[in-house]
This record gives sequence, structure tokens and C-alpha cells, in this order.
Amino acid sequence: MSRAEIEQRDRTHPLAEDEAREVLALADEAEAADGSPPLSEQFRLSVESRDPDVTHLLAYAAGRALAGYAQVRAGSGDEPPSAELVVAPQLRRQGAGSGLLAALPEDARVWSHATGPAAAAAEAFARSGELEPVRSLHVMGRSLVDGPAWPEAVVPDGYRVRHFEPGDEDEWVAVNAAAFASHPEQGSLTRRDLEQRMAQPWWDPEGLILVVDPDGDRPDDRTGDRIAAFHWTKVDPPGGEVGEVYVVGVSPDRQGQGLGKAVTILGLDHLRARGQRDVVLYVDEENVAAVHTYASLGFTDREVHRQYARPPAT
Ligand SMILES: CC(C)(COP(=O)(O)OP(=O)(O)OC[C@H]1O[C@@H](n2cnc3c(N)ncnc32)[C@H](O)[C@@H]1OP(=O)(O)O)[C@@H](O)C(=O)NCCC(=O)NCCS
Repeated sequence: MSRAEIEQRDRTHPLAEDEAREVLALADEAEAADGSPPLSEQFRLSVESRDPDVTHLLAYAAGRALAGYAQVRAGSGDEPPSAELVVAPQLRRQGAGSGLLAALPEDARVWSHATGPAAAAAEAFARSGELEPVRSLHVMGRSLVDGPAWPEAVVPDGYRVRHFEPGDEDEWVAVNAAAFASHPEQGSLTRRDLEQRMAQPWWDPEGLILVVDPDGDRPDDRTGDRIAAFHWTKVDPPGGEVGEVYVVGVSPDRQGQGLGKAVTILGLDHLRARGQRDVVLYVDEENVAAVHTYASLGFTDREVHRQYARPPAT
């Protein structure tokens, strides 16, 4: 089957404004057809901002119709690059997807966020490109209006609970990086990434709950409360009924004191008080401790997202 023509956009040849618009429209069309968004938040934000630090691949069919899009992001440290790709619903099964796949770095890991029949198509597609599943991300959820009750939050003595305030940015980035040192995507979040999120319509400082130590030892270059743990809740779209446990992190030197469970509960209380009816979260299958905490708070599996990669050459 004939392959689409692939064009690359990066620092030397940035993504143009109209190209970014076309990519977002294509992703929206795929979401409407498949019932799940093909690009995750960070990948979509990088299209919106026409990020020159990632590689954008555009697949064109005959007549210069945009048939597909892929994005490749360098991994942090020794991590392999990660990629997401999508083909326009009406231009599938014509080789655009495999054309994009062939243009990715050999060691790229490709995410599938598809659910239902689209997940089966993504799996068949990945296997046809000789990729195998290497990582699974579970979407867990629970009702906030019924189902098992969750306990009251127990915050250890010496800590204070408040929400994010201007001036907390650098301290939050540092605690997030420390808490997620072994988590490739979350741990590498920079102040710029944080500010990108703070510029989104869903950003609500009251939804970023902090457990702080007002008397903690402060490194010379930082002032103010030390953040011991945080729970960033998210409601997107802002008027919607579903909240998200967006990120929960505990500073490594404060782990083992029950702060993770306490801050998770504080976030659930916050979402329920706001009138949210349901809550979801994403958790790595390998993060057994987190899966266990969420299951004990009444969360159950709703979807599984998979990452595919070429098996290492033997
Ligand atoms: C998965 C996706 C990228 C495939 O794009 P595409 O352009 O249709 O893929 P190709 O035409 O190159 O297909 C290559 C092979 O993949 C397999 N494949 C693709 N779609 C399939 C489907 N719906 N069912 C079964 N096999 C499928 C086939 O073996 C196919 O070869 P064939 O058409 O000659 O039988 C596209 O369906 C899509 O955008 N899905 C939503 C986003 C997504 O899931 N991305 C993650 C991919 S890991």
C-alpha cells in the first residue's frame, strides 16, 4: 500500500500556525470518531505552543490532505523517546500510520490512549509494526456521590494545609521533581511546564492542595513554607462533573508518615465540596503502592492505556 509523504518540523523548521491548527482539528476528529483523545495533555500543549523542542511529523496523502500526525519527545536522562501518533479517521488503512511509525526513532515508545474498539485497532497496528506492549497506565475512577465512604484525612502534627499561592512555583517544581525522580514524564516538569498549565482555562489554585511545613529547613535559595505533600486536582472542562486526581506527590524525606493518603483524601473532599460527581486518575501499573492506596479509597479500573516499543535486538 502506498505510504504517505512525511514532513518533519523541529527547531530548524518549526511547525507553522496553520499546520498546528490542522493537527488539532485532526486530533479532534479522531476523538469524535474513536471516543478517546489520541494525544495526551503534554503532547497537545506542545502542538498548541508549536514547541520547537519536540519533533512534529506530518503525514500527507494525495492532494496535500493532512492524513496523520506524530510527535516525538526526547526522554529524560537515559529514558527512550516517547511518541504519540494519530491518523485522520477517513484516511486510515492506507499506510499513513505505518509511514509515521517508520519515521520514528528506532527506540521510541509509542502511547496508545485509545479505549474500546479503537484500542484493539491500535494494538493490531502496533503489532503489525512489530511493536510490543511495554508499559500500562490504568485509569481508575470512583463516584463522589455514592460508593464506599472514604475516611477522614489525618494530617500529622506540625503541618498546615493550604492551597497553592503565587510564589510557590519553584518550591512546587522542586518537590515534584524529587517526588517523581524515577517517573520519566512527571518528574521532568519545569517551571515553564507549570506555567503553561497555569495558563489553561481549568487552572484553579484552590484545586492544588498543599500540606506545608511552616518551620521546615529551607535551602538558602528558597523562602516560605516547605511543601511536604501536594494533591493537584483538576476539573476539565471547568464546568464539568468529573474531577481528576491530577498529581499526588510527597517529598521523599517526608514519605512514610501517612501524608500521601491524607492529601489524597483532602483532594477528594475538595472535589466533592465543589459539587463534582465523579473522579478519575491515571496510575502506572507498576506503581503498586499507589494502586493499592487508590483501591483502598474505593477506586476501580476504568481503562488501560498502553505504551508499545520495538523489542531490543538480540
Ligand atoms: C492506529 C492508527 C494510528 C492506524 O493508522 P492507519 O493509517 O490506519 O494505519 P496503516 O494504514 O498504516 O495500517 C498498518 C497496519 O496496521 C493494522 N491495522 C491498522 N488499523 C487496524 C484496525 N482497525 N484493525 C486491525 N488492524 C489494523 C493492519 O495490519 C494494517 O495493515 P493493513 O491495512 O494492510 O491490514 C489509527 O487507527 C489511529 O489514528 N488511531 C487513533 C490513535 C491511536 O490509537 N494511536 C496509537 C497508535 S499505537
